[in-house]
This record gives sequence, C-alpha cells and structure tokens, in this order.
Amino acid sequence: RFVEIIGVPIEAGAGHPGALMGPAALRTAGLVRALRELGHEVRDLGDLTPDPWSEGDAATARLAEITAWSRALADRSYAMMQAGGVPVFLGGDHSLSMGSVTGVARHCREAGKPLFVLWLDAHGDFNTPHTSPSGNMHGMPVALLCGEDGFDEVFPPEQRATVNPAHVHLFGIRSLDPGERRLLRARGVDVVDMRLIDEHGVGVHMRRIIERVRQADGHLHVSLDVDFLDPAIAPAVGTAVLGGATYREAHLIMEMLHDAGVVGSLDVVELNPFLDERGKSALLLVDLVASLFGRRIIDPAVTQSQIG
Ligand code: ARG
Ligand code: MN
Ligand code: MN
Ligand code: MN
Repeated sequence: RFVEIIGVPIEAGAGHPGALMGPAALRTAGLVRALRELGHEVRDLGDLTPDPWSEGDAATARLAEITAWSRALADRSYAMMQAGGVPVFLGGDHSLSMGSVTGVARHCREAGKPLFVLWLDAHGDFNTPHTSPSGNMHGMPVALLCGEDGFDEVFPPEQRATVNPAHVHLFGIRSLDPGERRLLRARGVDVVDMRLIDEHGVGVHMRRIIERVRQADGHLHVSLDVDFLDPAIAPAVGTAVLGGATYREAHLIMEMLHDAGVVGSLDVVELNPFLDERGKSALLLVDLVASLFGRRIIDPAVTQSQIG
C-alpha cells in the first residue's frame, strides 16, 4: 500500500509539555524503515506547519494555537486522503485528531463512504469546553468530531465535518469524567471499557467492530493514544492510567485490523518522549504500527483452518 506520514508536533492540548517531540521519537525508533521493510511505498511529508496564531493570555493563546493546527491539519488530511494513500498522523497530543479526522470525514462524505472511528484510549476524550474539569483540549476531540457545542472557535459550523456518534467505538476505556460519561450515553457511543475487555477478551469486541465496518463497506479511522497501553509497557505519556492494554492484546488488535483490511487512516498520539525509558514506548509503538501494516509471526493459514 501507499502510506503517507506526517508529523503534527502539537502539545498545546495536553497538560504536560513534551508531546511535540513525539514525531521525532517515532522516526528515530524506525517507523519509516519498518513500513518499508513490509513492502509498502512510504512517503514522509515531514512535520506540518500551521499558520501563525495570535498570542493573548495563556488560555486564549492555547485555543488559538489548537485552532491553527486543526485547520491546517484538516486541509492536509483531506489532501492526503484524496491522494489515495493511507495517511498516518504522528502526534503530538490527541487534540490533533480534531484536524486529522475532520479531513478524513470530508473525504469520506464526498466519496459516499461511511466513516467509522476506533478510538484506542484510556479516556473517552468526550469532554466539551462546558464539561471539561481540566480545560485540556486533548480530552475533547471526540466531542468536537461528533458535533457537540462549544467548538465554534476551532471550526466554524460550515467547516465542520461531523462523525456519527453511533459509528464511534471507544476501546480500552478506564477513566471518564462525569460530564463526558453522561454525554457518551446520551449520544449512544459504543464504549468498550476495561471491564468488557476483561470479561470477553479483546478479540470478541474487535470482531464485532470489524464486522460492522465490513458490512457497511466503510472506512475505519484508528486513533491510537499511548495511554491505551499499560503504563508498565508504555510509560511515555502524561496521562497514564493503571490497568491498560497488554503487549499481547495491543498486537492482537493490530493484527486483526490488518487481516480485516478495513483501516484507511491512523493517528498515533500522546507519545511524550521526555517521559520515556530508553525509547521503549516509541519502539513499542513502531512495532504496533508494523503489526497493523502486516508484520506477523508466521502465516497463520494452516493452524487457522483447523480451528475454523
Ligand atoms: N478526561 C481528562 C480531561 O478531560 C483526561 C483526558 C486525557 N486525554 C488524552 N488525550 N490523553 O482532562
Ligand atoms: Mn478513499
Ligand atoms: Mn488518553
Ligand atoms: Mn486520548
């Protein structure tokens, strides 16, 4: 496949500085090489540069900065989709998905392709400026994408390509604020929390989600937040929550997604290399992306056929 990579070194949406080093760390960990070794045609577009934004007091400046990144990224993401490849967005904090998914959604709407979103995260990221206890915009992208109020600064209504909340699957969730929990239930978002994962295993829910995308012949956007993973295997994140996905669960998810062939775009976000231990989180992310793009232990055909 043709894979286009772009770095989005934004950290204004997060509470801790450091995520702006994420794209550099993922490149250092060998992301481009890993994808090329799998036989893909890879183009690294470098890092995005937004238009200058106006400074004001701290909160105003942060909103202006995120607005500048979101608009620039939505246009770029749309262009990458039109170019026909699989865009991979390297964060940067999770507020970048406001832009990446908006661009993907614009393309899908024009192409008549139903868009589904798989959000691999410890958090729901469904706060709005009205519900957020922290004010950090990396806790809000799904709410913006699903058309909630309070985001007119970022995208004027006519530029907002909304995602159907019934097509969003939050996966790995173990930390929700009261306001976002209420909103998620009111909007009918599918939340696969850690309780469900422990009871059924990741395979059951991944098969259900994949089947749904396939039946609709849809486009699946995957948004991978580092804090989806257990902090023991991926410490490089400012919002670590105990009890995350294991190494094997995370790889299995990526392998199932690859085999299903439904993933059309990807965010890899929230890597904070300042908090990493000898690059281990960055290296793990590269391995996970490689699994998503087809790396496997051995061709499973023989054994698989015996278990049906
Ligand atoms: N729910 C919390 C908040 O709104 C944490 C969000 C964390 N989000 C993330 N992308 N890491 O501040
Ligand atoms: Mn397309
Ligand atoms: Mn998170
Ligand atoms: Mn997140």
